[in-house]
This record gives sequence, structure tokens and C-alpha cells, in this order.
Amino acid sequence: MVTAEVPVLALAAEYFFKMGVEGKRFRPMVLLLMSTALMTTPAHGLQDLIFDDLRLRQQRIAEITEMIHVASLLHDDVLDHADTRRGISSLNSMMGNKLAVLAGDFLLARASVALASLRNTEVVELLSKVLEHLVTGEIMQLSSEPKDMSNMDYYMQKTFYKTASLMANSCKAIAVLGGQPEEVALHAFDYGRHLGLAYQLVDDALDYTGTTKTLGKPALSDLGQVI
Ligand code: FPP
Ligand code: MG
Repeated sequence: MVTAEVPVLALAAEYFFKMGVEGKRFRPMVLLLMSTALMTTPAHGLQDLIFDDLRLRQQRIAEITEMIHVASLLHDDVLDHADTRRGISSLNSMMGNKLAVLAGDFLLARASVALASLRNTEVVELLSKVLEHLVTGEIMQLSSEPKDMSNMDYYMQKTFYKTASLMANSCKAIAVLGGQPEEVALHAFDYGRHLGLAYQLVDDALDYTGTTKTLGKPALSDLGQVI
């Protein structure tokens, strides 16, 4: 899904999907576990064949989520002027800002096609909302005023948009695709939201306590943005 026709774009788009720099794949793992957790209590007594098909469709959500995540990192590294990511040179420092931005756009375009192919408008709506939230969160971070930076509500809202929305909405999408009732879908959303908020709280703390070597990406970059 990430291979491109034009060699230079292929190189850029595949950059963070290569073995060794593919990252923890935390989001897809959580989503597949969510799929498994919901499979143990199938909503409509699904048969094996339908079961396999559903698993493949949910796996597609996991793939789309990872593509959106990597696209957002490519753009984020341009905004942060980061020179490293996952222990190697960032794509912007390797190939320049223009190509890094376009590679992110390309991943988003491929993710959109994959999303549409699921033919489920509620799921399309959930993941499209995530794109809006990612941009909103990033803008809130970029344009925060001194009074916002000491406001916990502002910080948590920004963190939801920037990180937790992707996990919350993709967990919900797994439940929706599985034909689970609204109540279960909302629990899946809350699970992803809490996990996402916790994840970003730790990531932000590490930005101050970690080093570029242990993090594999620049330390103190968030602090750098506000100075
Ligand atoms: C990493 O944050 C960045 C994000 C979680 C979101 C970035 C979103 C955008 C750049 C908006 C554009 C969105 C898309 C879908 C293209 P961080 O800088 O705190 O983490 P880091 O330390 O890993 O860089
Ligand atoms: Mg960053």
C-alpha cells in the first residue's frame, strides 16, 4: 500500500516502513488486540468465513492507522525541524522538506483509498475526523500562548487532538466494523482515548528527561518550540 510509481517518491514513502525502522507498531498492535477481544464475543454468531473476512477488514484499519500516524510524523518532523527519528535521519533531513511533506501527503492519499474500499461510511467518518483533529492539535501546539501552556484543560484537549483521537477513533472503527452495539463502540473509543492520553503524557515527560540517544529523536524539541 505504500509503494509508489516514481522511484524517489517510493523511497520517501517507504522510508519508515522498512525493517529496523518500522517502530514499535504500537497502534496496529492495539487495534488487532481490540479486534481479537471483540471476536471472542461475536455480535451475530458469525461463521468462520465471515470471521476471517472481518479480521482482514479490521487489519486494514490497523494498516490505515499506521499510515496516518507515519504521515503525521513526516509532517511533524518538518514543523519541528527534527533531524532524527527512530534512531535514523529524519526524512526531511535526508531528502528535504518538500519531499517529506509530499511523502506524507502520498501516504494519506493511499490511506484514503484503502479506507474508502471498506465501503463503510461511519468508519470513513471516524478516521476523517482524526485528520481534522491531528491538524487542530498541531496548530494548538504551535500557536499556544503563555496562558495556554499552564492550563491543564488546554493541554489535555490539545493532547486528545494530537494523539488520542487517532487511537480512540480507530479503536471505535474496529468495533463498528465488527457490528458491535453502540455501547461497546463507545467503550472501545474510551479505551483508545485513555491509552492515547497516557501515551502522550509519557512521551512529553520523556522529551524533558530523555536524551536524543535514548529517544532516537531530538530531546527538548517541544521546549524548543516555545522559546
Ligand atoms: C508528534 O508529536 C506529532 C503528532 C502526534 C501529530 C502531528 C500532526 C501534524 C503534523 C498535523 C498533520 C497531520 C497529518 C495527518 C499529515 P511530538 O512532536 O510531540 O512527538 P515527537 O517527539 O515524536 O516528534
Ligand atoms: Mg515532533
